[in-house]
Amino acid sequence: MKGALCWAVAGLQPLLSAALTIAEINGNKFISPYKDQTVTDITGLVTAKSSAGIYIRSTMPDDDEATSESIYVFNNSIGKSVNVGDIITLGSAKVAEYRSSNTYMYLTELTNPSGITIVSSNNEVTPLVIGKDTLSPPTEAFTSLDGGDIYSVPNAQQNISAVNPVLKPAEYGLDFWESLVGELVTVKAPTALKIPSSYRDTWVIGDWKVTGKNNAGSLTMTAKDSNPETIIIGAPLDGTKNPTTTKLGDQLEDITGVVTNTFGFYTILPLTAIKIKSVSTLTPPPTTLISSGSCKGITVGTYNVENLAPTSAHMPKVASQIVTYLQSPDLLFIQEVQDDTGATDDGVVSANKTLSTLISAISSAGGPTYDFATVEPVNSEDGGQPGGNIRTAYLYNPAVLALKDVNPGSATDENEVLIDSETGLPSLKYNPGRIAPGDAAWEATRKPLVAEWIALKDGKKSFFTVNVHFSSKGGGTSLHGDVRPPINGAVEKRTQQAEITAAFISKILKADPAARVIAAGDFNEFAFVKPLTTFAEVSGLKELDEALNVPVENRYTYSYDMNAQALDHMYVSPVLASSKSKFQHVHVSSWVAASAVVSDHDPSVAQFDLCGCKASKRIHKL
Ligand SMILES: *[C@@H]1O[C@H](CO)[C@@H](O)[C@H](O)[C@H]1NC(C)=O
Ligand SMILES: *[C@@H]1O[C@H](CO)[C@@H](O)[C@H](O)[C@H]1NC(C)=O
Ligand SMILES: *[C@@H]1O[C@H](CO)[C@@H](O)[C@H](O)[C@H]1NC(C)=O
Repeated sequence: MKGALCWAVAGLQPLLSAALTIAEINGNKFISPYKDQTVTDITGLVTAKSSAGIYIRSTMPDDDEATSESIYVFNNSIGKSVNVGDIITLGSAKVAEYRSSNTYMYLTELTNPSGITIVSSNNEVTPLVIGKDTLSPPTEAFTSLDGGDIYSVPNAQQNISAVNPVLKPAEYGLDFWESLVGELVTVKAPTALKIPSSYRDTWVIGDWKVTGKNNAGSLTMTAKDSNPETIIIGAPLDGTKNPTTTKLGDQLEDITGVVTNTFGFYTILPLTAIKIKSVSTLTPPPTTLISSGSCKGITVGTYNVENLAPTSAHMPKVASQIVTYLQSPDLLFIQEVQDDTGATDDGVVSANKTLSTLISAISSAGGPTYDFATVEPVNSEDGGQPGGNIRTAYLYNPAVLALKDVNPGSATDENEVLIDSETGLPSLKYNPGRIAPGDAAWEATRKPLVAEWIALKDGKKSFFTVNVHFSSKGGGTSLHGDVRPPINGAVEKRTQQAEITAAFISKILKADPAARVIAAGDFNEFAFVKPLTTFAEVSGLKELDEALNVPVENRYTYSYDMNAQALDHMYVSPVLASSKSKFQHVHVSSWVAASAVVSDHDPSVAQFDLCGCKASKRIHKL
């Protein structure tokens, strides 16, 4: 204001007093107060160029942390007439809010620039070092609009763009990155959090404070902390390409680039391609849990083998991982087993060939000769890749385990918990059999596969298992998106699925509180989110990581966007939730380079002492 008055006195007033600073155009909220308006005489230093525009930084910064001092000017020819280091004035331009999908946040930009004047050239361009020249990124909450929990339900209560809150960059991650949109920044000493996306975009953290760091150095999502301090490095501005070989833990050269919002995420577009400074030497160790062959030390694994068909290129690799990394557990819960003709949609539903091919490959790799137990689904009713008819299945070592009183159900047979009229003990109507296959909650989804087993050596202890693969999070929205809380795809369906599965299990435990029950698989959900807190409450089972007090950071089986996270779990009944049980996640997927990834999930292995469990009602009664 004072400046404008001065100029007025000097007689240059009309144009200059109309001029807005870049901070004023951006404003202190997500959406510009000048959206859709034409603004005149915008002055800025060109800090970077892309093939579609330029980035300019204010020469008259304010001291408000909430307002970005930089902005993107979208025009595919403007870069030809100006150079990085030029201070320019745009005679006029339009303020636009752009996004390519209505669930993404908007990017504030200037379009239709005209009347470009170069004021001076060869000015110094200094990037802002994140965490030094700027605040450090907040480490827990993304926005004030998530009600303190990004996974709270119901989802999609508000849109950031509609509420347009004043940015609090010291408190909320999205506010922090929004307050830097358009800015040229440097990430010092970046560490890669995972393999790049198919577009070679790479999630990193810099040298700032982070929370949730796990045993591999990536960040694990925990209750109320989904890691807004991470940032994705997108396509380089100079047209070079980011490497495809980057993996978790790789140290990268400092990254300088501009902050933008693209494909639903706050993103840094680097000036040039990411360079790997030192490759991580981290390699996933095999499980140390080895079966004792008797009920004293039964081993149980769970693994989503990602669309496994008889001719899958990854078939021998899955087999070799089962032998080498999982040490051939006595019982394997597997998910995403496709039918014998894979993704060909030809009415075939049997997976006998898929499973026998896997079993042969395991024995060729030095493992035992497993048997399998599964129930064929109805064609095209259980979701997943069209034609693939994915299902859950068990592989078991017949030298150690047997199905108790085999009586397989069909796809549509509804399993029931039968109560013995004399002993009061539970058993299954179908062994194996599916839970409530006709219930609408399972539409286009895998029905849980229940079985009862006997450990053949030392006392013939029996136990129940439930192999689950709940509906996926498909249809969800970005954690960086406009919709708050973000849509957790199919959360309502998973909640119903959790309730139905848990109610079935609770009948077993009601009849026999000392029953040994293991429910494992791909729950497609985090243990601290409602579908699974409900599952634990209703079923009476305990999540094994939780029961064993595994550090929360080390509970992960999957790597998605910025987070290491646990979609796969093992839940056990109270008698198995003791410190005698052991549980390990085997990070054959999340720790390795893209070329070494076999499945998108990490498997897990547990070990249980079935002999040592406290006396069950079964024993009292006899
Ligand atoms: C870029 O600006 C030039 C000059 O004003 C104009 O002719 C052209 O249409 C603009 N291009 C885009 C994509 O806006
Ligand atoms: C959020 O935005 C989407 C897309 O524009 C719209 O469909 C939805 O109704 C909005 N939600 C709320 C709660 O306003
Ligand atoms: C698949 O194997 C099961 C169990 O061994 C057998 O009962 C069933 O008939 C087989 N199905 C086909 C189509 O071969």
